[in-house]
Amino acid sequence: MPHAAYEYIAGGAADEITLRWNREAFDALALRPRVLVDIERIDTSVELFGRRLAFPVLLAPTAFHRLVHSEGEVETARGASAGEALFVVSSLSTRRVEDISRATTQPWWFQLFDIGRRRREFLTELLETLNAVGCNGLVVTADAPVTGARNRSERAHFSLPDDLETPYYPDRTARKQVGGLPVSGSSTWADLAWLRSKTGLPIMLKGVLHEEDAKLAVKAGMDGIIVSNHGGRELDTVPATITVLPRVVKAVGKRVPVLLDGGVRRGTDVMKALALGARAVLIGRPYLYGLSVGGAPGVARVLEILRGEFEMALKLSGRRTLAEIDRSVILRT
Ligand SMILES: Cc1cc2nc3c(=O)[nH]c(=O)nc-3n(C[C@H](O)[C@H](O)[C@H](O)COP(=O)(O)O)c2cc1C
Repeated sequence: MPHAAYEYIAGGAADEITLRWNREAFDALALRPRVLVDIERIDTSVELFGRRLAFPVLLAPTAFHRLVHSEGEVETARGASAGEALFVVSSLSTRRVEDISRATTQPWWFQLFDIGRRRREFLTELLETLNAVGCNGLVVTADAPVTGARNRSERAHFSLPDDLETPYYPDRTARKQVGGLPVSGSSTWADLAWLRSKTGLPIMLKGVLHEEDAKLAVKAGMDGIIVSNHGGRELDTVPATITVLPRVVKAVGKRVPVLLDGGVRRGTDVMKALALGARAVLIGRPYLYGLSVGGAPGVARVLEILRGEFEMALKLSGRRTLAEIDRSVILRT
């Protein structure tokens, strides 16, 4: 991919401290396997909102797939299909959901940024479209009311190509800032309540790092929480997601599933997140790299690698199912 696009995708906000912590915090956790367990038969499947997923890794919402592949999100959806994973389509998709939904056999969700008052008419129509084309869930991203300090993209002079269309954010001026995030600063808990009243689809709140926000999300009728720091791209120096996960899980209890993203690169990372209470994880950058170098087979290959590594981690830890991955998999220091 072009250098500037790579810098936009790979980069984090400001000094990239959170970006680094996301990885370092996973690496700092040591695993403590049990041995001589019969691991001939294992089951990596997981239930999420009444559906079985083959393994607990989802594709996180990421913007502008046409930056790295001419078919954009349609190609990603094909890869998600082949790799048996759920794809969360970004509001900054460069393809329409009608085309994306046709390209996948897997369940898929749609992500929203701005759910503020000014967008209600648009959102009402969008919800109708999403229902009509078989969308299975919504993700509301709460950690990006403005775009973070994308210094690395700026230094690389990254800008969006003029012909890159984003059907759900047609206003080009909103995308012209570095990183292209639409400003969604007017969204509040009251707007979330409005959205809740408008749809029966499961809604997940993404970008939660504080246990009090997790509690508010449950109170607002959210069906799930995604512990995320936007891959270290928004507020720099917020903690690694795996560091705050246990607090959020504790606050939420068993009321709704908690998911996590940020720095998941190995099967052992998936296991660590599950051990600390996540139901499943999402990956962002890894599948964009797969999409860039190999299109749909590239995305599927990234998923296959992670799935294989996760199975290996499970077996080498003496665990057979996700239910058997508890805190005792991780060494307490
Ligand atoms: C290039 C890029 C674009 C992204 N665009 C969005 C987006 O449109 N909406 C959103 O909710 N999150 C977006 N994210 C954040 C991801 O959903 C996810 O939180 C993050 O990538 C996970 O971290 P990882 O890349 O380390 O796996 C984006 C991330 C990247 C790298």
